[in-house]
Amino acid sequence: MLRAKIAGTGSAVPKKVLRNADLEKIVETSDEWITTRTGIRERHVASAGEKFSDFATEAAQRALKHAKVSPADLDMILVGTVSSDMLFPSTACLVQHNLQAPRAAAMDLSAACTGFLYGMHQADALIQSGKAENILLVGGEILSRYVDWTDRSTCVLFGDGAGAVVLRATRGDHGILGTAMKSNGEFGNFICMPGGGSSRPANDPTSIDERLPFIKMMGHETFKIAVRAMADVSVEVLQEQGFTHDDIQLLIPHQANERIIDAVGKQLKIDPAKVFKNIDRYGNTSAASIPIALDECVREGRIETGDLVLMTAFGAGLTWGAALVRW
Ligand code: ACO
Repeated sequence: MLRAKIAGTGSAVPKKVLRNADLEKIVETSDEWITTRTGIRERHVASAGEKFSDFATEAAQRALKHAKVSPADLDMILVGTVSSDMLFPSTACLVQHNLQAPRAAAMDLSAACTGFLYGMHQADALIQSGKAENILLVGGEILSRYVDWTDRSTCVLFGDGAGAVVLRATRGDHGILGTAMKSNGEFGNFICMPGGGSSRPANDPTSIDERLPFIKMMGHETFKIAVRAMADVSVEVLQEQGFTHDDIQLLIPHQANERIIDAVGKQLKIDPAKVFKNIDRYGNTSAASIPIALDECVREGRIETGDLVLMTAFGAGLTWGAALVRW
């Protein structure tokens, strides 16, 4: 049976770091509130002139180098993001050009914080069906450009960056074992950016006055659904593959809020030592959070051959999902 194996990982974040103390000067907040409510201490934010495609390309180059795969061998480039450089062309096409990957098809995937896992789901299907052999999957955002810097309930949460993996077709027991993706558009208004799309375009003169091209979030409502959704979809993937929580060596949850991460780990009965967290240094990087975390785990030697790694995410849409990988 053909399987999609993670052959390489990479990540890239902006140099500029915004600490909680810096945010105290922008909105009425405190380091104490942000750390106790979210676990975030600092986040990387893009400077003027930096583009999402720059970070996506850098992360991709690192993942390709790690995987020892040439851009010329890529069949497909998938980019999970809701903050593309432009509405079109896709960032995937910009990355395809930057990398000089002449054979690769390229497209973006819009599933907010679940974008990277939706990409894993797609890549897995393309590889299993024999339609692709080498796929570059990037997840990333520059949400700092869409944050309302007058809204303290959202502007303290997000960070920028990109993470990437190279998925290769392989035969054997190592690679993606199972994925499950979900959605519920009924609660689309829980996390949304109402302006900038075709219904209320950015060139609509009233759009800025009504503060439409900015992230809006009903944090409390989202929190409650997120924990249950990530735990349930994780159990579904584990059960489908005949595993339980005891078999997992590492859980990489989407880094939206430390309290959500802890609650998901608790519901899944996974030893806290096996639950990866780096939210204190990055904030919520949306589609980048899992691939950045995965890259850190790989580079820190936290994953060994044969380990079972479970990843789960939740985001705007609403969307959520889980992926189980045998390293
Ligand atoms: N500093 C100080 N006080 C604040 C701040 C702040 N930055 N933000 C909000 N508050 C205040 C509120 O005004 C409120 O005050 P009040 O009680 O006087 O009205 C109080 O703190 C509590 O606010 P809540 O919103 O109830 O706080 P909560 O504990 O729920 O934490 C948070 C808010 C961090 C947003 C949390 O709800 C959360 O993490 N939600 C989930 C986010 C998520 O998972 N998003 C999905 C991915 S995002 C994507 O897809 C793009």
